[in-house]
Amino acid sequence: MSSPSTAASALDTIVALSKRRGFVYQSADIYGGLNGVYDFGHLGSLMLDNIRAAWKHSVKAQPYGPVMMLEGALLAPEAVWKASGHVDNFHDPMVDCTACKKRFRADEFDLSQGCPNCGAHAWTDIRQFNMMFKTQLGATADSSALAYLRPETAQAIFVNFKNVYSTYRVKLPFGIAQIGKSFRNEITPKQFLFRVREFEQMELEWFCKPTESDNFFDIWQAARRNFYRAIGLRDENVRMRPHAADELAHYSKCCIDVEYQFPFGWKELEGIAHRSDFDLSQHASHSGKDLNVFDEELKLSYTPHVVECSVGTGRLFLALLFDAYHEDTLGGEQRVVLKLAPQIAPIKAAFLPLVKKLNEPMFAIYEAIARRGIEVEFDDSGSIGKRYRRHDEIGTPVCFTYDFDSQNDHCITARNRDTLVQERISIDSLERYLNDLLR
Ligand code: GLY
Repeated sequence: MSSPSTAASALDTIVALSKRRGFVYQSADIYGGLNGVYDFGHLGSLMLDNIRAAWKHSVKAQPYGPVMMLEGALLAPEAVWKASGHVDNFHDPMVDCTACKKRFRADEFDLSQGCPNCGAHAWTDIRQFNMMFKTQLGATADSSALAYLRPETAQAIFVNFKNVYSTYRVKLPFGIAQIGKSFRNEITPKQFLFRVREFEQMELEWFCKPTESDNFFDIWQAARRNFYRAIGLRDENVRMRPHAADELAHYSKCCIDVEYQFPFGWKELEGIAHRSDFDLSQHASHSGKDLNVFDEELKLSYTPHVVECSVGTGRLFLALLFDAYHEDTLGGEQRVVLKLAPQIAPIKAAFLPLVKKLNEPMFAIYEAIARRGIEVEFDDSGSIGKRYRRHDEIGTPVCFTYDFDSQNDHCITARNRDTLVQERISIDSLERYLNDLLR
């Protein structure tokens, strides 16, 4: 991010921009808002779709094996979460201030300094708080009806491993990928989209022979690092951080976080975890089902190992906004510009008639491109300068202007968001120009 200097003002700037331009709204804001839950507006959902498409492409575009897609249910019975270890292990330490009644995560600050809200030294004991949202299916009150909203998409993949393996007759190594919502009852949601209670994950579970899992753990680290470069995050803001032994999740043999340098510090965007045979073995033993595979060459049955690549879509969305945000001065006026990679930008191009009198021919050009399925906007409201500013602020990579010369030379002016260079291009070459931009 280039400009607002403190972490708080940088965050406020992005929150305000997100709301002002229709990227993200606080959920149920007319009722005071739901803490840790957000809705994505038009531009936000277009940008999310672009992030999802880029991620899906990145996990499939590798030479090692196929990646199958899955869309699992959000609810799963307690048995799944017992086997996965989430009922017993998915806790955060919680503490209450008995003076102001505020609740905190006990591992996020030094309790001996007193309550961050009121300063009192009046803590309850630290208790373990399970972060899953529990619910009861139907009208039955017994424990067989207990279900949980999933805290990770991964378990639907493990539970369906044998279904996918046998219905598609894939051979190891292969991946199962899923994009979908997960839910965690965070004690203290914070930092806008960074720590939320309802969020989306993009998860790849890569199944391989046990002897190959260490190698694939390395391969996926390199591949994932390249992904962040390809979608435009600046190198200096991304790093790979191995977990210390005492940070490892209960399922991990080892784990590397891809971290982004947010204004509020280096934070996890993605976890790359060597889950070994933990999950399939757990589900085999709890369900009584055989989840092994038979290797025809080795004439051997074994439980595959898993390397997991797990990204929070909303966190990545937030990182992309911070990374792209720039302020500069243009013609004596302050300009805000989101320098998003064209593939991530919600609107790929804006079509601007210089004056309303020229609307008709420009609208026809816009319509022809829009019909091709490229996300573009026609904008005739306000001065041309104002329209440029609006599109700079939402990250539109190029604005096309139709002027009085266009009627004679069959060309329009293309203005580049980042370089501000303006060039005349033939209307006939417009589609090629856009395809090159989005490649
Ligand atoms: N599946 C890993 C995670 O949710 O963090």
